[in-house]
Amino acid sequence: MTDTSRCSRSTFLKVAGAAMLASTLPGSPSFAAAAPLAMRPIPKSKTKEQLPVIGLGTSQVFASRGDAAAMTAKGDVVKTLLQEGGRVIDTAAAYRESEGVVGELLETLKLRKQAFVATKFGEQGRDNGIASIARSFKNLRTDMIDLMYIHNMVDVDTHLPTIKQYKADGKFRYIGISDTSNNQDKLTTWMDQIDFVEFNYSVDTREAEKRLLPMAKDKGVAVFVALPLGRGRLLNRVKDTPFPEWAKAELQCATFAQLLLKFVVSHPAVTTAIPATSRQKHVGENLDAGRGPLPDAKQRERIAAIWNA
Ligand SMILES: NC(=O)c1ccc[n+]([C@@H]2O[C@H](COP(=O)([O-])OP(=O)(O)OC[C@H]3O[C@@H](n4cnc5c(N)ncnc54)[C@H](OP(=O)(O)O)[C@@H]3O)[C@@H](O)[C@H]2O)c1
Repeated sequence: MTDTSRCSRSTFLKVAGAAMLASTLPGSPSFAAAAPLAMRPIPKSKTKEQLPVIGLGTSQVFASRGDAAAMTAKGDVVKTLLQEGGRVIDTAAAYRESEGVVGELLETLKLRKQAFVATKFGEQGRDNGIASIARSFKNLRTDMIDLMYIHNMVDVDTHLPTIKQYKADGKFRYIGISDTSNNQDKLTTWMDQIDFVEFNYSVDTREAEKRLLPMAKDKGVAVFVALPLGRGRLLNRVKDTPFPEWAKAELQCATFAQLLLKFVVSHPAVTTAIPATSRQKHVGENLDAGRGPLPDAKQRERIAAIWNA
């Protein structure tokens, strides 16, 4: 089954092949009918704001500016994300130059309005936290940050009053806490006090299904999923495995990266998966995982079995 009306441009080209190329060029009816990127509500939004299910992580790939060519390549990644329906960019004070790169690109490309930028700070102590927040505003070249996380659960009880105050003052739109350690279950402690939570979840790391994901759903906390591709580890594991025909036909996806992302975003508690990439072509491929059919419970287990066999 290759239902072109439910398939995005880049995946459609891979699935349907060159014979169909002409009918999927921009401006053609099939391209115009490409499936929209799935959106999920931010439960605590007063304006019923929604976010696309696929975003962009920046921890390692945006960590250094590099030369002019490297900045142009990063700009192409951001442009593709925002022009093909994505919005979410996840950065952090700790990701070396990443915040500054994101701030510069959004300003110079004039794409700030389309983006939903999340960042994080992880200092010990109130004053150090406030100093880090001040640097984030400067790096991101803005006076309003969409989402501020306390990074890696550092000194949470000290920082929660601070971030709540920034939110009350209209400087942060949303607040959250992130963690990707083996102790991430502890995030459940603060679930009543935050709008977003971020942690890792992927086909071979499913601990979050027990408590974190159900609790986030129950309490109306939006979820960003970090490391949805297991830092590329999961893709390495299938590099010699043929892509399953059933996934092409039933889920209209063409790559293992898309299959991994479809697994993550098909969990009903997940708001947005934030795969990181330095490559423009991978941005489009990753966004396409949020279009067309998502796996049901049986298909999710079939996907997981590819990695957990
Ligand atoms: N404590 C926290 O809050 C925390 C901790 C860790 C991470 N995070 C967030 O989560 C984000 C994602 O985590 P991550 O960057 O460590 O790992 P990841 O997104 O699981 O994997 C990134 C790797 O996958 C590759 N990749 C991406 N798309 C691909 C595709 N379509 N095909 C083939 N390879 C692809 C990238 O290489 P290419 O560049 O070649 O595409 C990169 O090497 C981070 O960037 C960060 O924003 C948060």
